[in-house]
Amino acid sequence: MMYNSRISGTGYYVPEHVVTNNDLADIMDTSDEWIQERTGIRERRHVAKGDGNTTASMGVKAAEKAIESAGIDRDDIDFVVFATLSPDYYFPGPGVQLQQDLGLKTVGALDVRNQCSGFIYALSVADQFIKTGMYRHVLVVGSELHSLGLDMTTRGRGVSVIFGDGAGAVILSREEDRSKGVLSTHLHSQGEHAKELALIAPGMGKRWVTQILEENDPDDLSYYPYMNGQFVFKHAVSRFREVIVEGLEKNKLTASDIDLLIPHQANLRISQFIQQKFGLSDEQVFNNIQRYGNTTAASIPIALAEAREAGKLKEGDLLVLAAFGSGFTWGSAIVRWS
Ligand code: UT7
Repeated sequence: MMYNSRISGTGYYVPEHVVTNNDLADIMDTSDEWIQERTGIRERRHVAKGDGNTTASMGVKAAEKAIESAGIDRDDIDFVVFATLSPDYYFPGPGVQLQQDLGLKTVGALDVRNQCSGFIYALSVADQFIKTGMYRHVLVVGSELHSLGLDMTTRGRGVSVIFGDGAGAVILSREEDRSKGVLSTHLHSQGEHAKELALIAPGMGKRWVTQILEENDPDDLSYYPYMNGQFVFKHAVSRFREVIVEGLEKNKLTASDIDLLIPHQANLRISQFIQQKFGLSDEQVFNNIQRYGNTTAASIPIALAEAREAGKLKEGDLLVLAAFGSGFTWGSAIVRWS
């Protein structure tokens, strides 16, 4: 007996501290105009000293809301999948912190590290466990704390103005009707471009922390994220399009069947490009990068929670999720909302 899975609950949490483009212009050579024109971002959230926010704790807060919205008890959760590129510890990953802090039974906790595609990968993993009948309710979390790891000087402006902190979560639950819920997921990678969007050190393959400290080189950029922006942009627009088409074709659907597209929030220009390629209206594409920046693995579940709360998802709607990012990795999910 095979099942489908459905998104039965959504939740998100973002830190209270709002950082506007002008706030960034006070500390580096950038401008509100440049950031809005190139990315669409107006403001983002950063954790603040003393607010207690970590990747794991924000994930817990988002998860609590998702559990409440699903109307289940936390003891009903059979498994946790946690996606992030900014874990509290190098190891173990934040999945186990969340298991503890949410007060879950000793259920399995899996960490996924596929950066901007992390949520789609995590959703796909959870979907497989539910499809086979192994689990009934899986908690899927995406959470990122970028701000403390960015180069907040002019040197790092090409990256640091883009990323924001926050967390989103969904509960994926068994759906008996196989024409409803997650219809298919599609995952891809191309390691050839791993270094075009990466944080190289510290890592066992390159240089460990002790060596970085020993060298004490103020010009060492290897422990900051690096992004070859235009290169990533070009690949993003074509991969987003490709993987959405792949998902639609798999289900014998076309772009005209899409009710709502929630793209990973990488850049408003990328979203608008895809919108135009698929001939979708403004109402059919959900964007919130203007308020949160790029929150990597958290961006889709935050957007999903907001879209749901805004009443944008009705029974029977065709929802398309898609992401592209570091790896390169990319993916999509085709969902019949139920
Ligand atoms: O989420 C994972 C996937 N990520 C993406 O998909 C991101 C894809 N890439 C992008 O979104 C864009 O490439 C960026 C928003 C990162 C950059 O926009 P761009 O239009 O590609 O700008 P650029 O990197 O080509 O830089 C243009 C100019 C440069 O100056 P010169 O060399 O023309 O004098 C930069 O130094 O803009 C300068 N610049 C800035 N100026 C003001 C770069 N960052 C900033 C900044 N403020 N924050």
